[in-house]
Amino acid sequence: MTAPPITETRVITARIHERPDDSWTIGAALTTGAYDTLRQVLATGDASAVQEQVKLSGLRGRGGAGFPAAQKWSFLPAGSYPRYLVVNGDEGEPSTFKDRMLVERDPHQLVEGIAISSYAIGCNKAFVYLRGEFALGYERLTQAIADARGQGFLGDNVLSSGFDLDIVVHRGAGAYICGEETALLESLEGERGMPRIRPPFPAIAGLYAKPTVVNNVETISTVPHIMRMGGEAYAKLGVNRSTGTRLFSVSGHVNRPGNYEVELGVTFRQLIDDLCGGVREGRGIKFFIPGGASSQWLTGSDEHLDAPLDMDYVQQTFGVMLGSGAVMVFDETTDPLLVAWRLCKFFAHESCGKCTPCREGTGWIEMVLYRMLHGQGRPEDLDLLLDVGDNICPGLNAPFSQTTICPLGPSAVSPVVSLHKLFRDEVLAACGAGSRAGVTG
Ligand SMILES: Cc1cc2nc3c(=O)[nH]c(=O)nc-3n(C[C@H](O)[C@H](O)[C@H](O)COP(=O)(O)O)c2cc1C
Ligand code: SF4
Repeated sequence: MTAPPITETRVITARIHERPDDSWTIGAALTTGAYDTLRQVLATGDASAVQEQVKLSGLRGRGGAGFPAAQKWSFLPAGSYPRYLVVNGDEGEPSTFKDRMLVERDPHQLVEGIAISSYAIGCNKAFVYLRGEFALGYERLTQAIADARGQGFLGDNVLSSGFDLDIVVHRGAGAYICGEETALLESLEGERGMPRIRPPFPAIAGLYAKPTVVNNVETISTVPHIMRMGGEAYAKLGVNRSTGTRLFSVSGHVNRPGNYEVELGVTFRQLIDDLCGGVREGRGIKFFIPGGASSQWLTGSDEHLDAPLDMDYVQQTFGVMLGSGAVMVFDETTDPLLVAWRLCKFFAHESCGKCTPCREGTGWIEMVLYRMLHGQGRPEDLDLLLDVGDNICPGLNAPFSQTTICPLGPSAVSPVVSLHKLFRDEVLAACGAGSRAGVTG
């Protein structure tokens, strides 16, 4: 018997669906309960209770690495002030477009999340680093901040609680690397966006060398709901250590691409078939990328399609990641070599150049893939690519091992390893076989 189709579980997208025409306005937000939770939290006067609930919820970062949010907050050294909350809204990972929706369509949810999280960690000045291209998001977020301030939800003595909070919105300038948290901090400080060597970690010396928490837009947008529902109730959603819901950006050859909020633990097949209407023209899936461009790939096999959206399961079982929650689906007409080259060209272009294996390696990977794609490939090219990749991430465990300062370099190795694991025969057969159709770069 086949299971009935799943539906979305709308927690952080509830207001967006309830008020599709004006969800971003202060009027719609207040009518649908925005800031009620902030009011309750401030009334208790107990910042540590917020940390406790977030810990109980099991909330893990939605920006890519899946690090437990409460644990990150707990690293802030006691008694060291000022301290900052920096919200990462750079959203540069190819095919990820969920934070954009949250900022554009529910900025008050984010502002409330920032206020509650700042209160929890003892921060009086928070920053949102917003992708420069998000013009509408910038407009709506700055309006939301002004309106929230007008209502007493921000500024001095928030809701007469004695708690002060300001939010600064900073627009990026289009560099993918500025989404990496320490490059982001450099950029916020007015420096060139290049990752810092750790330690010290941002919790100890972050923005302006002060203790800093960096969290993703979706992570922070979830906090008001955890406080409203209670941490334990939130943790009942989801599966294993992947608690709650997540917003998945599905793109590629599906009939209904878009952002879908689902309870973690549903399968890739349910996401792709039930919510996205399956693959165009009824075709089969050749492969899909489960967690943003930096992840290794999975195929259209039952084993992969029936795997649960569980951060640990997919990593331990297949060596892939849910990352930024972006699922790219490719049907059986797709040339995997073309996809690999296009992704690696992106990573080579976005390498900040600070460390040699990434600066040199990503460029070489792109060039070798280019010649393979253009009929100039050599039989030994795939092994050559693996050799270059091994110098960037030893053991080819991309993107989980690295000789580099940050994981961008290893991200360029993911497509190469995927070609080797999943399409080796197809790629080798194509080497030297003449120019390939559909190549435009
Ligand atoms: C190259 C690179 C780009 C990244 N881009 C983003 C991004 O656009 N947005 C984001 O939230 N995290 C991004 N991250 C992850 C951040 O470094 C950081 O882990 C995250 O913002 C922490 O938030 P979280 O714990 O709430 O997930 C990126 C990481 C790397 C290595
Ligand atoms: S891995 Fe690449 S992007 Fe990251 S710091 Fe090194 S050179 Fe820069």
